[in-house]
Amino acid sequence: MSNEKIILTGDRPTGRLHVGHYVGSLRRRVELQNSGEFDKIFIMIADAQALTDNAENPEKVRQNIVEVALDYLSVGLDPAKSNIFIQSQITELTELTFYYMNLVTVARLQRNPTVKAEIKMRNFEASIPVGFMCYPISQASDITAFKATVVPVGEDQEPMIEQTREIVRKFNSVYGETLVEPDIMLPTDASCLRLPGIDGKAKMSKSLGNCIYLSEEPEEIRKKVMSMYTDPDHLKVSDPGKIEGNTVFTYLDAFCKDEHFAAFCPDYNNLSEMKDHYKRGGLGDVKVKKFLNEVLQSTLEPIRNKRHEFEKDIPYVYEVLRKGTEAAKEVAAETLHEVKDAMKINYFDDAALIAEQSEKYKA
Ligand code: TRP
Repeated sequence: MSNEKIILTGDRPTGRLHVGHYVGSLRRRVELQNSGEFDKIFIMIADAQALTDNAENPEKVRQNIVEVALDYLSVGLDPAKSNIFIQSQITELTELTFYYMNLVTVARLQRNPTVKAEIKMRNFEASIPVGFMCYPISQASDITAFKATVVPVGEDQEPMIEQTREIVRKFNSVYGETLVEPDIMLPTDASCLRLPGIDGKAKMSKSLGNCIYLSEEPEEIRKKVMSMYTDPDHLKVSDPGKIEGNTVFTYLDAFCKDEHFAAFCPDYNNLSEMKDHYKRGGLGDVKVKKFLNEVLQSTLEPIRNKRHEFEKDIPYVYEVLRKGTEAAKEVAAETLHEVKDAMKINYFDDAALIAEQSEKYKA
């Protein structure tokens, strides 16, 4: 098998992307893209997967494809280097899923921790759509169709990659070495693994209304930062404050660089000096929040400006997706052909099969 280094990753188009997506994966994707270390990069807008739990809401998915594409382009994903495409248009992925389904048990899907958590969150317990139950198998198709070696994703996707690896091993052991076992690539920084919402709740999510979106306007960003959850016991400026579980500091861990202190808060050289002061007492929440606001504004401004440029030419954005989808389809079709060869179900190309069947009836 080849030694190519191939990335595949993606997002469900159910809303605009937020700063949790940014520190959890988008920022890293752009770095990986620009590192020149990868032979191919595929970034997928997972609309078919989004439909597995939005069957009654196709319009939401349809509307958000371009939103996600705009977010991708505005953070610096470059169509010349990264192939951005729409999942549902690659019918080969569905075909792969159908064959992989035979290699996975219902019990194994029910044990998948991400599926379990999502069933709970969506109150699916009494009536789980079959398509939803099977989405980890479809995700294995996404990854293996492109022979991805590396899948950069958030921590919540770990069970999906594990399930993919099992399917690959099973397929290869039954039908011979065909598919590539992918590795997961997690964020390196703990604060980026799971950025909390502005209310300090475990995860940023649209339904909780606790997100800061990448496309957020400056005044909204400021309001959200000023309303952030901090240390509830830090009542007076002079009180000693806690850093752990303090959302403002978690965000600073994820976003701030030493240069930000020189530019916006020269009282400190770096974040650890600021944290020390906060822990000692004498540093108020408002000052820390104002600093975080500056950091976020300076990070998000160029992204928002770039987005506004792309928003002026939406047909171009769809053209990027169309080209990316065409190129992705070629790759997936090749893998599907190899898969069917391995399974010996490419009957019409199979001269040996036809000869064998003829022999059978000659005697
Ligand atoms: N499950 C991912 C999410 O919810 C999206 C996704 C679909 C994906 N297929 C993928 C991610 C393949 C990585 C690889 O965000």
